[in-house]
Amino acid sequence: MAERFVNLRVRRQDGADRPETRRWEEFRVPYQPHMNVISALMEVQKAPKTTDGKTVAPVVWECVCLEEVCGSCTMLVNGKVRQSCSAMVDQIAPNGETITLEPMSKFPVVRDLMVDRQRMFEDMKRVKAWIHLDGTHELGPGPRESPEKQEERYPLSRWLPYDC
Ligand code: FES
Repeated sequence: MAERFVNLRVRRQDGADRPETRRWEEFRVPYQPHMNVISALMEVQKAPKTTDGKTVAPVVWECVCLEEVCGSCTMLVNGKVRQSCSAMVDQIAPNGETITLEPMSKFPVVRDLMVDRQRMFEDMKRVKAWIHLDGTHELGPGPRESPEKQEERYPLSRWLPYDC
């Protein structure tokens, strides 16, 4: 069976104050079942070389939770804003189509796919976009988990297909 690859077209920029360095670079990495965009970027990270054979600086992006919670991995995937940790290669490029990755356009670029989201955090502070806990609410002990369920679930919480 022919080896399958994941093709990425990545918008690069060498720094926040380097807009003149904006460019596209293309990468091809070996396909693995259940890959997401982050794991494909990690493959690029191992040996950052473009499809035309040029060795380049590793692509910069952010990820933290890998479970679609923190939002740090958000970028444009094929032109749509989405969290790249839940962007599955099998769904967005089932036949080896090229996946285009760009930084979000509403935030200043820090480097490559990483943006400065400080403005959003400042806005959240300004409108107090959180649930205020002042200690007067009885929170209770939380849901109980049986030891059997703990044994079953803990190994699952530790499983990560790729290093992050
Ligand atoms: S890494 Fe947290 S949402 Fe993707």
